[in-house]
Formats: sequence, structure tokens, C-alpha cells
Amino acid sequence: MEDKPIRRAKPTPIPAVAQSAKEKTLPLRVNGKDYFHEGDPDMPLLWYLRDVLRLTGTKFGCGIGACGACTVLIEGKAQRACLTPVKAIVGQDVVTIEGLASAQLHPVQQAWIEEDVAQCGYCQAGQIMAAVDLLRRAPKPSDADIAKIGNLCRCGTYPRIRKAIARAADKLQEGKA
Ligand code: FES
Ligand code: FES
Repeated sequence: MEDKPIRRAKPTPIPAVAQSAKEKTLPLRVNGKDYFHEGDPDMPLLWYLRDVLRLTGTKFGCGIGACGACTVLIEGKAQRACLTPVKAIVGQDVVTIEGLASAQLHPVQQAWIEEDVAQCGYCQAGQIMAAVDLLRRAPKPSDADIAKIGNLCRCGTYPRIRKAIARAADKLQEGKA
């Protein structure tokens, strides 16, 4: 019997739309988890965290980089998520207030509770993230160092924030001893 030639199906071309969507996919890493963003690369990180990932601990205050309510850590540095487009954080580690604690609360969070810092609470996630960054740079910060954080609190919790940062500094030092 004569062999018949094998007919191979032509490979299905990838639709142009899918290709362009793939090109626009941005790999992001938030709180130790990997995500792929297929939307607008200029979307502010704050929108992405709150509306896409539903990490609503990071707050919207002013949207212009002035209040600090949206502060998150990017590669360990405190940054305004309202001013950071998602395309700028590809390949960088983002930590939000939801990802700060590990097996137990972060020493800054513990100090915040012990000093009973929060009043309405709206600004507090941003304040804590800014304090974590400050203590990384200045293990024994002065009041002037703390004042440079610049995050706003409409409830005026600044004296308790100062005390909590001093307490957290002691905890971090004890942890290293
Ligand atoms: S909401 Fe980002 S600084 Fe105010
Ligand atoms: S605790 Fe209310 S705005 Fe800071």
C-alpha cells in the first residue's frame, strides 16, 4: 500500500490583539507575590493597589504627592504611590502595609499600638511605612529627622508618632543585640 503524505495542520497565528496585549503585560511584585498587569502602564500604583489588588490599606489623600497617605515601600524606600506609574516599578519589590508584618507585627507596628498613635487612622498606614524607611536610614532619628518625613495628619497625632518612632528605634536596636 502506498504511503500517503502526512498533512500537518498549519499553526494558528496568534491574533494581533493578543500579541499587543502580551507586549503590554507588566510583571509586578507586591508583598512578595508576582502579578501581571495588562492594563494601562501609566496607571498610578495607588490605583493598582486599591482597585486591582484590593489592598486598600494604602490610602488616597491628595493625589498630588503632598500628604503621604499613599506611602508604600519600593525597594525599601518610602515612595508616593499616587505619583508612581506601574510601569516604573517593574522588577522592583513593593511592600504595602498589608505586607509589612511577617510571623508577628513589625516593630514599628508594635510601637504604634503601644503608643496608641492612631486617631481616625486615615493617614496611619502611610505614616508607618514612612517610619520604617526612616529607621532603615537613621536607626536613632532625631526630632528633626522625624519632622522631615513630611506625611500629614489632620488629627495632629505628631507627638505620638515621634514617641512611637523612638520606641520602635529601641525595639529594632534590641532586636539586633
Ligand atoms: S495621596 Fe499620595 S501623597 Fe497624597
Ligand atoms: S490619625 Fe487622622 S489623619 Fe492622621
